[in-house]
Amino acid sequence: MKAPVRVAVTGAAGQVGYSLVFSIAAGDMLGGDQPVILQLLDIPDALPVLEGVAMELEDAAFPLLAGVTLHDSAEAAFDSVHYALLVGAKPRGPGMERGDLLEDNAAIFVAQGQALDAVADRDVRVLVVGNPANTNALIAQRNAPHLAAHQFSAMTRLDHNRALAQLARQTGEGVARIRRLTIWGNHSATLYADLDHAQVGDRAATELVTADWRRATFEPAVQQRGGAVIKARGKSSAGSAARAIVSHMHDWVLGTPPEDWASMSVLSDGSYGIAEGIYYSFPCRCTAGRHEIVQGLEINEASLKRLKATEQELLDERSVVAHLLP
Ligand code: NAD
Ligand code: LMR
Repeated sequence: MKAPVRVAVTGAAGQVGYSLVFSIAAGDMLGGDQPVILQLLDIPDALPVLEGVAMELEDAAFPLLAGVTLHDSAEAAFDSVHYALLVGAKPRGPGMERGDLLEDNAAIFVAQGQALDAVADRDVRVLVVGNPANTNALIAQRNAPHLAAHQFSAMTRLDHNRALAQLARQTGEGVARIRRLTIWGNHSATLYADLDHAQVGDRAATELVTADWRRATFEPAVQQRGGAVIKARGKSSAGSAARAIVSHMHDWVLGTPPEDWASMSVLSDGSYGIAEGIYYSFPCRCTAGRHEIVQGLEINEASLKRLKATEQELLDERSVVAHLLP
């Protein structure tokens, strides 16, 4: 049996947290042979709820669950962690954009970046989910100067999965047949869901759908899906978000499937002409916790405009939080 690894989940008393921790304990995220210790963080007022989550984790009798600890301090929750899933943050309500959360949530990621820097395992991998996720990832990373930028990422896997589902429905194919779809940019209404390189089985996705469906139906549906879920449920996505977290971490740590890639928001290195110094969603291939941005994809003029629009939004968000970026 492998030695247990430590996984911190922030906001673990919240709705995404509740949908997530059982999957991690079941081995879905890090593999069926990897024991885990869950280090759960929430605010002091939420500790009674967190106790209830811990009771249910115990009652589920997961063979891979080697321990659960509960915390209301980030320094304690992040002690020696190998993986940190930063979910805890305010969600948006109806009529809001995710960027509207920046003012309320940014400070959380300053404090948590500093805490990770101080106490996490030096090889920790950090996924930022709390919105606006891309800019919060930048804040956390810049406040953790002793950790490397490649150890941080933000989540656009939910958008990737939404795009898979929309394309599967339109083509009548299963999601497992679809590869090489890309979400570019910000986890926001400016993201670009790109089918130019996607394949459905052996066929190019662009041969199976019309240009009109792409522009008028598919792209806006993926951009607006989070808002549509909020409108329907009265709350933002939780089950699908938890599944996206598990898939993002699984592929980052255990590797992306051959012949495919994952959409991950990582620190831009200038690939595809995107400004450096923002967490931007690119097509990435991963091996053993290291990502590489897929290079050499042909980007036409129409796509480039979309890549640039979502880049601009991230640059604007970065200016708003410039005072929080040491
Ligand atoms: P929620 O309100 O149900 O839960 C949030 C939890 O975070 C609460 O328990 C709250 O007490 C806790 N929290 C607040 N401040 C904290 C802090 N400083 N430290 C630790 N915990 C803290 O919200 P939710 O629906 O679980 O969503 C959580 C966040 O995830 C939101 O910002 C939401 O917008 C975001 N989200 C992102 C994606 C994505 O794809 N990137 C998907 C779904 C949700
Ligand atoms: C989502 O995409 O479902 C989440 O980011 C929640 C939201 O605010 O849309």
